[in-house]
Amino acid sequence: MTKTRFPALRALAFILLTGLIANVYAADAAPALQFTPPDEKDIPNDKFGDMIRLGRNIFTDTHQYAGAFTGNGLNCVNCHLDRGRLAHSSPLWSAYVSYPAFRKKTGSVSTYEERLQGCFNYSMNGKAPPLGSKELTALVTYSYWLATGAPTGKKLAGGGYPALAKPPLAPDFERGAKVYQANCAICHGANGEGTRSGDRYAFPPLWGNDSYNWGAGMHRINTAASFIKANMPLGQGNTLSDQNAWDVAAFVNSHERPQDPRFIHTVAETKKTLHDEDCSYGKDVNGQVLGSKSVPSGGTTRAHQAQKK
Ligand code: HEC
Ligand code: HEC
Repeated sequence: MTKTRFPALRALAFILLTGLIANVYAADAAPALQFTPPDEKDIPNDKFGDMIRLGRNIFTDTHQYAGAFTGNGLNCVNCHLDRGRLAHSSPLWSAYVSYPAFRKKTGSVSTYEERLQGCFNYSMNGKAPPLGSKELTALVTYSYWLATGAPTGKKLAGGGYPALAKPPLAPDFERGAKVYQANCAICHGANGEGTRSGDRYAFPPLWGNDSYNWGAGMHRINTAASFIKANMPLGQGNTLSDQNAWDVAAFVNSHERPQDPRFIHTVAETKKTLHDEDCSYGKDVNGQVLGSKSVPSGGTTRAHQAQKK
């Protein structure tokens, strides 16, 4: 054995040790609790279990099980992957234990049920099922069950979408278009229209009349960048660079989509009152003011029509 190996080993030990110390400090600073939701095969075989299963079905196939309340081509699971179970994909188990909460969007404290209503109004471009309806009860029950054993009011590791630091260069439409064509168009279509299979979407639309509306959380560029970085391309989360994730988020969210349901008189007034955030609503992109050609919110889309038949 030569002596020259020892310095390398020492260096390695040093690196490992500082890594360990850094971890200890990180853990001290932000003690995020680890959590694993229960296994689906453990849903009880009784009336309570039936309600959990209905909630799961509404979540994964919203059109089939709550079609009257949807107004686009999306299902809840499209943005909350693996039936609302996947960490870093805004899982339902972390959501459930985070409410009631004050929300800037509504300026008031929302219960979990009220938070779910917002998803129907905005992300699903539909109309909210009433409080106490079977649909909301089922979604609450499914979320409650997924959160079995989780403490309330504590941050769980993997909750929400992981915030993404600002990129070195300001997000750019043209660069985003290139990222999109190379990494996303194969599934989501050259024009963000999604890929249909019969009257359903195999791959959901990212913009246009059948996607989330201008009031949805995903229309914010920072939120979309976080989701995309962690979860897209499907099955290859965290492979895009931060810059590419921001650029493609800016590109996706600089296309027309259904109107903001809270629309006030004009695009300019709506932008001023409601869109002081990281978004393209009301901005002039390639000669068109976004929001000015939006179809009304609430949806009269092909998927919606097909569902109602
Ligand atoms: C287009 C993507 C999209 C769809 C479709 C969608 N959501 Fe969401 N959801 C989001 C985003 C983005 C957020 C975070 C919003 C924010 O930061 O304001 C969110 C937040 C939530 C939250 C709160 C999470 C938390 O931790 O506070 C719940 C609960 C939720 N969604 C449930 C649903 C349900 C139920 C449906 C179907 C009826 C649905 N979502 C459909 C994108 C989506
Ligand atoms: C291999 C196919 C595939 C590729 C490639 C892909 N996606 Fe997706 N994407 C999906 C599927 C499927 C979903 C819905 C996930 C689910 O329901 O489990 C989705 C969901 C989404 C959503 C939320 C739902 C919606 O319609 O708004 C966004 C935003 C998104 N993808 C953006 C992107 C971007 C940006 C890229 C490229 C960087 C990309 N995706 C690449 C398949 C893909």
